Amino acid sequence: MQFQLTEEQLMIQKAARDFALQQCLPGVIERDEKQLFPKEQVMQLADLGFMGMMVDPAYGGAGMDTISYVLAMEEISKVDASVSVCMSVNNSLVCWGLEAYGNEDQKKQYLTPLAQGKKDGELYIGAFLLSEPEAGSDASSQRTTAEDKGDYYLLNGTKNWITNGSSASVYLVIAQTDVTKGPAGINVFIVEKNWPGVSVGAKENKMGIRGSDTHSISFTDVKVPKENRIGEEGFGFKFAMKTLAGGRIGIASQALGIASGAFERSLAYAKQRKAFGKEIMQHQAIQFKLADMATKVEAARLLCLKAAWEKDNKKDYTLSSSMAKVFASEAAMWIATEAVQIHGGYGYVKEYHVERLMRDAKITQIYEGTSEVQRIVIGRSVLK
Ligand code: CAA
Repeated sequence: MQFQLTEEQLMIQKAARDFALQQCLPGVIERDEKQLFPKEQVMQLADLGFMGMMVDPAYGGAGMDTISYVLAMEEISKVDASVSVCMSVNNSLVCWGLEAYGNEDQKKQYLTPLAQGKKDGELYIGAFLLSEPEAGSDASSQRTTAEDKGDYYLLNGTKNWITNGSSASVYLVIAQTDVTKGPAGINVFIVEKNWPGVSVGAKENKMGIRGSDTHSISFTDVKVPKENRIGEEGFGFKFAMKTLAGGRIGIASQALGIASGAFERSLAYAKQRKAFGKEIMQHQAIQFKLADMATKVEAARLLCLKAAWEKDNKKDYTLSSSMAKVFASEAAMWIATEAVQIHGGYGYVKEYHVERLMRDAKITQIYEGTSEVQRIVIGRSVLK
C-alpha cells in the first residue's frame, strides 16, 4: 500500500490550488451575497480540462484518474463550493453516466462538448434531473412520466433543486415510463434545454452554495427522440444509482475541501489572534479543537481517496463512496461550525469566510443522498 501521490497528481493538485486562489477567491464573498453564477470560473475550469477530468481524451476529456479529481475538488472547494459543485455534477453525474452507458452517437454528440465544458466557444455543461417535489430520498417514486409514443417519448413533469439548472445545455432526465414496473419502469433520457416544452423555474434563494444555480425544471409534452434514451428500456433507476455512487465521491471531496478550508483558516487565525496575553493556539481549549479538526480532515481525505482508488481500480465503490460522503459531510459541518467558534465575533461576519463555509457545509449532508440515505446504503452492505 502506498500513501504517495504521483508527480502528475501533485501537478493537478497545484493547478487546482492556484486556480482556486487566483480565480475563485477574488469576488467569492460578492458572488455568494448576490447569488451570482461563477460563469467565468467555470469557463476557466473548462480550459484546465477540469469539466471532463476523467473522460477518455477520445471524447474530449482530460483522461485523468479519480484520485486527481478528489485532489482538485478539495482545493477548489476550500475556496468556493459554488464553483466545485458545478464541476462535480458535470464530471460525475453527467459525463460519467454518458461515458459509461451512452452509445457511440450519444457520446459523440453530447459527451464530447460536455467533457470540454464548451461548444463553439460558449459554456456547455450538463445537469442531472432525478429529484422531484415528492421524490427526494425516495428516488424511485418518480412522478415525471415519459410516455412511449412509438418513435419518441412524451415527457411531462417537474424536477426540483437542479444544480446547473439554468446554465446547463443538456439535462439527463430520469422519468417513469411504466409505473406498474416500479424502479424497473424508470428510464433516463438526454434532453436539451432549448427544446419546446422545457421551462426553467426561478433560481432558489439558498442558505449556502449561493452562486450555484439551483432551479426547478418543468416539462410539458416534450418530445424526446427514442435515440435519446440511455441504455436498455428500464435501465434508468440503476443508471441513477450507479452514477450517484461516483457522484458521492465528488460531493465527499467537496465536503473535504470545505472542512480543510475551515481548518486552515482557523489554524492561521489561532496563530495570530491573542487573548489573555498569548496567541489563542496556546490555549488548550483551542488546541483540542484544532487537533480534532485536523484528525477529521485526515480521516475524510483517506476515505475519499480510498473510494477514488477503488473506482480507478474497477472495484465496487458503492459502499466506500457512501462512507466517504457521510463522514466527510458530517466532519465538514462540525469543523466549519468550530471554525466560526474559534474566530469568535469575526467568524460571524462575512469577511472572514468561515460563516460561508459553515453555510456551504450543510448542503453536503443533503444533496446526492442525505446522510440518512448514505446510512441506508452502508447498512444494507454491512448487514449482508
Ligand atoms: N447500483 C446498481 N443497482 C442498484 C443500486 C446501485 N448502487 N442501488 C439499488 N440498485 C438497484 C437494486 O438492485 C434494485 O434492482 P433489482 O430490483 O433489479 O434488484 C433497484 O435498483 C431498486 O433498488 P432498491 O430497492 O434498493 O431501491 P429503494 O427504493 O429502496 O432506494 C435508495 C434505495 C438508496 C434509498 C435510493 O432511492 C437513493 O439513493 N436515494 C437518494 C437519491 C439521491 O441521492 N438523490 C440525489 C439527487 S442528485 C443531486 O443531488 C445532484 C446535486 O444537485 C448535486
